[in-house]
Amino acid sequence: MERNAVITADGSVTLFSSETGEHYHSVHGAIQESLHVFIGAGLKQLIQPAQINILEVGFGTGLNCLLTLAEPSTRDTETYYCGIEPKPLTGEEVLLLNYGRLGAYGEFAPLFEQMHSFSRGSRLLRQGFTLERVDTGIEQAMLKSGFFNLVFFDAFSAEVQPALWEPAVFQKIRAAMQVGGILVTYAAKGSVRRALQQSGFVTNRLPGPPGKREMLQAVAC
Ligand SMILES: C[S@@+](CC[C@H](N)C(=O)[O-])C[C@H]1O[C@@H](n2cnc3c(N)ncnc32)[C@H](O)[C@@H]1O
Repeated sequence: MERNAVITADGSVTLFSSETGEHYHSVHGAIQESLHVFIGAGLKQLIQPAQINILEVGFGTGLNCLLTLAEPSTRDTETYYCGIEPKPLTGEEVLLLNYGRLGAYGEFAPLFEQMHSFSRGSRLLRQGFTLERVDTGIEQAMLKSGFFNLVFFDAFSAEVQPALWEPAVFQKIRAAMQVGGILVTYAAKGSVRRALQQSGFVTNRLPGPPGKREMLQAVAC
């Protein structure tokens, strides 16, 4: 198999892709990293949004979507989550993921299954929370202009997929975002920061999760 399960330091599973030679999450803790980068520096920074419109570049395991579902703010606010993933997991690979079997997220196990029961189209996962899955790359995806107020940019690194971290991709994403919308990514490289700045974002370097000194938060201006 091209992808193998690996247990990370916080007990949550990630996948290792032999095609890229990279893990889907930090081996210091998959859930810990996602909570820090995408929920803490992203979702929790939205100020009383009327609606939460999230774009995820690289839906992969669906961990960020699961953690978003578990956040109390998304129970009270209409949430639309668009996950872009050209290489959806197989049913066998989904069974390797233990998120729904960990105590904190047990109640979300059935929703996690539903998230992976389709790879294209939209489903209402629960009242007020719609997941749309797109099975093309971000380069080909059709995005509504000025729509998203939060972007989880979680592609493989610029070392292995450099084209995804170029201004052309960030400009396309910027055009799909509201002014003041937030993009977060685990990456902190200078070249990524400059590409974001050239694409209409103001960038902030924030402390990274355990094992990583910094990460980037970018605000659409
Ligand atoms: C680092 S993994 C992270 C996945 C995910 N966010 C998670 O929590 O499991 C990167 C993901 O980006 C996906 N990907 C690869 N090429 C892509 C592209 N052109 N556009 C969007 N996503 C892509 C990969 O298949 C993989 O699932």
